[in-house]
Amino acid sequence: MPRHFLELLGISEHDARCLINQAIAIKQDEQGGRRPPILSGRTLGLLFEKPSLRTRVSFEAAIARLGGNAIFLNRIDVGLGVRESLMDFARVVSQYVDVLAARTFSHATIEELARSATIPIVNALSDASHPCQAMADIMTIEELRGTVSGTKLVFVGDGNNVARSLAVASAIFGAWFVLAAPVGYEFPPDFRARFSARFPAAPLLVESNPVLAVQGADVVYTDVWASMGQEDEAEARRAVFIPYQVNEALLSHANPDAIFLHCLPAHRGEEVTREVLDGPRSQVILQAANRLYFEMALLVWLLADGTR
Ligand code: CP
Ligand code: NVA
Repeated sequence: MPRHFLELLGISEHDARCLINQAIAIKQDEQGGRRPPILSGRTLGLLFEKPSLRTRVSFEAAIARLGGNAIFLNRIDVGLGVRESLMDFARVVSQYVDVLAARTFSHATIEELARSATIPIVNALSDASHPCQAMADIMTIEELRGTVSGTKLVFVGDGNNVARSLAVASAIFGAWFVLAAPVGYEFPPDFRARFSARFPAAPLLVESNPVLAVQGADVVYTDVWASMGQEDEAEARRAVFIPYQVNEALLSHANPDAIFLHCLPAHRGEEVTREVLDGPRSQVILQAANRLYFEMALLVWLLADGTR
């Protein structure tokens, strides 16, 4: 059975810690001019049903820096589930590449790929989770604050894929996570049930009042109000989410040294103001940069079994 990276609920605390340590070590190596070709001759396949800048480019750069190469699979040519079944696609692509990162509309698609593939499958974002983003975010918080444990992390907005992965990552690394979401946009019941089964002692805190939620926050995080695939709901969501905009007034209730994070892409004037996104508390570019180092660590973990 290959190792997969589908969602953080399936990753042990030990493995998550090893991955972050490896990502930090790789970043230090890179900054010191050391770049061993650990994955020389290995190939990463990239299959994206939705657009991407960060995930696609950081994965391509990650495998290249490790000495391997990437093949981008055009979703129209591949015709996943249309031209051929997911099972046949997964079994065939496993003959050509060593690892596949997939961004799909439905999380069930990634799970089915993992069931049929004989190579590791990486979730490069699904409707349910975005584990690579959350792990790079943990790395970023640790880099800026020294530790994640005990940090109050408040996600303001939709209980979406990014929020769910952050909630799980927070539980794994000992952060105090709060979701500030409008009624009806909190975490879905199936996620709550699976979270509670994995972390019986960890509360999954939700607060509908964003001002109360951000009080004492060390990290304030937001994401778009309508995710990819929800474009039809964008206008209706805008009306509901306006009180959840992260602006200077809301941030003034957080700790004075609180940082602002956003997975990007961002919509200035919607979920975040220009002043906050481009202001001194914002660490969104460091966050995006760390995607590269986390993904280098992930590829090594999946392909070279390398943990330091
Ligand atoms: N944050 C993130 O995953 O960005 P992309 O959608 O550009 O990959
Ligand atoms: N929640 C967003 C994240 C984009 C990186 C989406 O799924 O579109």
